[in-house]
Amino acid sequence: MRAKLDLANLPTPISRANRLSDELGVNIFFKRDDQTGSEISGNKIRKLEYALKEALDKGATMVITTGGIQSNHCRATTAAATMVGLKVVLLLRISEEPKIEGNFFLDKLFGAEIRFCTPQEYRSSRNEIMKSIADEKEAMGERCYVIPEGASNGIGSLGYFKAMEEIVKQEDEIGVKFDTIVVAVGSGGTYSGLCLANKYFELNKRVIGFAVCDDSEYFVNQIDNINREALVHLDKPIEISKNDIEINDKYTGIGYALSTPSELEFIKYLASKEAVVLDPVYTAKAMIGLYNEIKSGNMKSSDNILFIHTGGLFGLFPKQEQFLF
Ligand SMILES: Cc1ncc(COP(=O)(O)O)c(C=O)c1O
Repeated sequence: MRAKLDLANLPTPISRANRLSDELGVNIFFKRDDQTGSEISGNKIRKLEYALKEALDKGATMVITTGGIQSNHCRATTAAATMVGLKVVLLLRISEEPKIEGNFFLDKLFGAEIRFCTPQEYRSSRNEIMKSIADEKEAMGERCYVIPEGASNGIGSLGYFKAMEEIVKQEDEIGVKFDTIVVAVGSGGTYSGLCLANKYFELNKRVIGFAVCDDSEYFVNQIDNINREALVHLDKPIEISKNDIEINDKYTGIGYALSTPSELEFIKYLASKEAVVLDPVYTAKAMIGLYNEIKSGNMKSSDNILFIHTGGLFGLFPKQEQFLF
């Protein structure tokens, strides 16, 4: 496998959610990827360890990436790139004048150069816009490395391939085999790495991705493409198809980064029960999905479930005023 940088605090801890497990009658464990670091916290740093290694190997001086105004990926990229001495330009999607808060506040604190685009431009031409920023910067003497949305490409996928190896090692250490792994899906790279490793090491785990936007068909196609891109980085060939991908799209709610009062109530509920704080955009939707699927009797074949807490805490603060206490 390819080499990576060592920026994250790994391995991240695994702990049993005792009260939630008792309530639901099944063992639920958290893998605390929200604790991969503080400035770099969350799932993205695992992907960035590979992407930024490639950037440095290629002699880059500057990284360009993109996401929403409260993108965890953009914040983690800015922090991690800054740690290794790379400059950063972010292309952020906005629909109104943004408040300087949450992840966006941190982007500014870390000194990222910020460009904005509309949701329409983001959908239709974010990669072209990043390419034109790269051309502009290269004309000024920079060497640019462009990271796609969420670092969800073949090289980024390796971060969660490696995380699955970490999980298998921890299973031996704590004496628990996880039959089911659950994760939120936003751009697909995290799921892709887990799915590939599941196949590669013949682990036969059920890997469920809860979509936070779009539908299962969209993500199955996205993840299948990322899987195919990642295959060239693996040490042996494997057969992988769309049938290896399980996406549940029943819990996307009212749309990307939008929260219903009941989703926010669930964040309060879990925080008061387990002292674990979910983020409103990703992990809350995935955990609500898992909770409801268990309650509806759709997880009867799962005894030990590992929920990967992929971070996102900074995205909670801009939503603070929507909570009722
Ligand atoms: C906190 C958090 N959880 C989960 C995800 C989803 O990961 P992925 O984009 O790899 O599907 C993201 C990013 O999109 C995220 O920021």
